[in-house]
Amino acid sequence: MPPRVRVVPNSLSPRRLFIDIFTLFPVVFEGFLSVSMLEKAQRVGAVRINVWDIRDFSRSKQYKVDAPPFGGGPGMVIRPEPLFSAIEQVKSPSSWVINLSPGGRRFDQEKARELAGKEHLVLVCGHYEGIDERVVSALVDEEISIGDYVLTGGEVPAMAVLDAVVRLLPGVLGDERSLEEESFSEGLLEYPHYTRPERFRGLSVPPALLSGNHALVAQWRRKMAEERTRRVRPDLWERRIRDGNR
Ligand SMILES: C[S@@+](CC[C@H](N)C(=O)[O-])C[C@H]1O[C@@H](n2cnc3c(N)ncnc32)[C@H](O)[C@@H]1O
Repeated sequence: MPPRVRVVPNSLSPRRLFIDIFTLFPVVFEGFLSVSMLEKAQRVGAVRINVWDIRDFSRSKQYKVDAPPFGGGPGMVIRPEPLFSAIEQVKSPSSWVINLSPGGRRFDQEKARELAGKEHLVLVCGHYEGIDERVVSALVDEEISIGDYVLTGGEVPAMAVLDAVVRLLPGVLGDERSLEEESFSEGLLEYPHYTRPERFRGLSVPPALLSGNHALVAQWRRKMAEERTRRVRPDLWERRIRDGNR
């Protein structure tokens, strides 16, 4: 059975990440995978992404994949059979299977770096009340949440994980120095950016950035990053101090 979405035919690259996504709504991924960084990553061969429709693995005549929860309660649950068939079709010893779930470990930049080092990621997007727990216990390596709120389905979380991981792959970003300086790279939020014109509606660019003095620019950016982190994310700031990074 072919995947529902494979947007960009790609060339071969020496280091390639394979990603299979299982969803009830493959169409959601079409635009996302065909523009910008995700499109480029596939075109240069850094990643190969297949999007599969979970319904294609249903054996029911109406392609039904959900059923009410045992024990009663609201909503429906995605049944184990289609998900077992789907995941087992792509899973190998080098696969890392992720279920997107608000009950999972909170996603962050460190996790994105870890996942970028894998060979094969399988992302399972739940819907309704989620997926049958037997899928999680038998086939899933890790559950990931993108934050403490509940979305309708796992598609937006899967796109967040995809984006954060794929931009870390070699050859994807135009200038990989961006990765060294951006937010979270040293446990700090990034400094503010300014571009032309120098004055706009009475608002000026900070003089240090116009000085042409690299040391002064670096010092100003560092100070701004630290101030912003302390103000906006005291949790990150405290962790940084605890880890001795000051
Ligand atoms: C309505 S939610 C299910 C919520 C679940 N009954 C609960 O209370 O934890 C349906 C699907 O959306 C996805 N989802 C929702 N919020 C998420 C989040 N914060 N992080 C990751 N996935 C999420 C998951 O795939 C989940 O199976």
